[in-house]
Amino acid sequence: MSKLWTGRISKETDADANDFNSSISFDSRLYQQDILGSLVHSCMLEQQGIISYEEKQAIHHGLLEILNQINAGNIEFTDEYEDIHTCVEQLLTQSIGDAGKKLHTGRSRNDQVALDFRLYVVSQIEDIKDSLLYLIQILADLGAEHAETIMPGYTHLQRAQPVSFGHTMMAYANMFRRDVLRLENTLAVMDECPLGAGALAGTTFPLDLDYTASHLGFSKPMSNSIDAVSDRDFALEFLSDMSILMMHMSRLSEEMILWSSWEFKFIELDDAYSTGSSIMPQKKNPDMCELIRGKTGRVYGDLMGLLTVMKGLPLAYNKDMQEDKEAVFDAVDTVKMCLKVLPGMLRTMKVRKDKMRAAASGGFINATECADYLAKKGMPFRDAYKLTGALVADCIEKGLTLEDVSLEQLNELSELFDEGFYEAIDLDKALASRKVYGGPAKENVLEQANEAKAFAWEHKKGGKRKAPELRNTWTYTLKK
Ligand code: ARG
Repeated sequence: MSKLWTGRISKETDADANDFNSSISFDSRLYQQDILGSLVHSCMLEQQGIISYEEKQAIHHGLLEILNQINAGNIEFTDEYEDIHTCVEQLLTQSIGDAGKKLHTGRSRNDQVALDFRLYVVSQIEDIKDSLLYLIQILADLGAEHAETIMPGYTHLQRAQPVSFGHTMMAYANMFRRDVLRLENTLAVMDECPLGAGALAGTTFPLDLDYTASHLGFSKPMSNSIDAVSDRDFALEFLSDMSILMMHMSRLSEEMILWSSWEFKFIELDDAYSTGSSIMPQKKNPDMCELIRGKTGRVYGDLMGLLTVMKGLPLAYNKDMQEDKEAVFDAVDTVKMCLKVLPGMLRTMKVRKDKMRAAASGGFINATECADYLAKKGMPFRDAYKLTGALVADCIEKGLTLEDVSLEQLNELSELFDEGFYEAIDLDKALASRKVYGGPAKENVLEQANEAKAFAWEHKKGGKRKAPELRNTWTYTLKK
């Protein structure tokens, strides 16, 4: 296949160099964005009198036919094509002739690829946000259902204070809410269109960049042509959003691995989300959780890889930047897979309330309640803390819990103890009285769950960024 740039270059490209240079094996993924960009660009060229109405019509029919052919699987993306942009343009010229050659007027592959890649990231953000909102709803359901399911809260992985399983689920829901906000912020920051930048220095053609920007769903064109073709911040921001999101999923997975171990037995994963061992018949392994935890490393790698590609690049476009796509594609595929599996796993797991309560009862997680009780009776908190510490140490030695110590024994330590002590250290009461905003008391957790559901509803409706009408129409046409 002859190259678009034959002219200055007279020799055939070496076969290995050609394969090395070609990106079609992965960037064919951008075909919808590439065609969408060309549809809008050609409308603008016609509006500005740069091409005729007939030429624009021919371009549109040609592009939509190519779209259909690609959708039908009739186009083979061989390394003969340098990349998806070249491929679409060559197919177009083959099918409609000279009008096809006019499509690239006032445009370079540098602003074209910057646009296509941006449009791709936008659409992926929208998809991933939807999956996140679903996950948040599942967590909010679990939060509400288990608002009174007592479990030990941990610090340093040591039993610390009483919380509920619902409260724990809502902690994760809050992390995923921030992930949604981060994605929306990334959208807001990248909401500018690079078309018109050309290779790097704009163009002499009288392009209407507000037209192309708004019809492609952006608020405005980018205000510096060199920056427009050199910028991959949006990809980096997206990858860092994905890394933080993976970190959250990984932490939850890690907890689920611990909770499903024999040592904890707080949850049992459904068989549909577990695997067995080839040799140990008793095993039920949390492979899905481990994979989410493991794949977090890949996504961090995608981010570090692209940061490293970008760090030494002089302005403007450099071919190194072709490395941006696989990193983002890999992160998208990985995150989407994890987001497909995690909600189902959460929805179907068995929550072992009895085991959680037993663990909560055995670990002196009401020791703070004892210290608070004495402090409320007038003992300085530091003294109350010390006295309780000694009491716990004594209990451990004798194999008792705080509940087992008689009032006489307690009074030997302090006159302040009375019958009210047993109520103060009761686990359910202890949980119910932690009513501070954000705390684990039932009504607080229910409020958190309601807030999370309202958040999911609000942000499903589109959040801050609303694509304009025509873009919806194009996208709709393209999806069909
Ligand atoms: N395949 C290239 C990429 O992904 C497209 C841009 C090519 N531009 C150029 N001047 N070679 O980066």
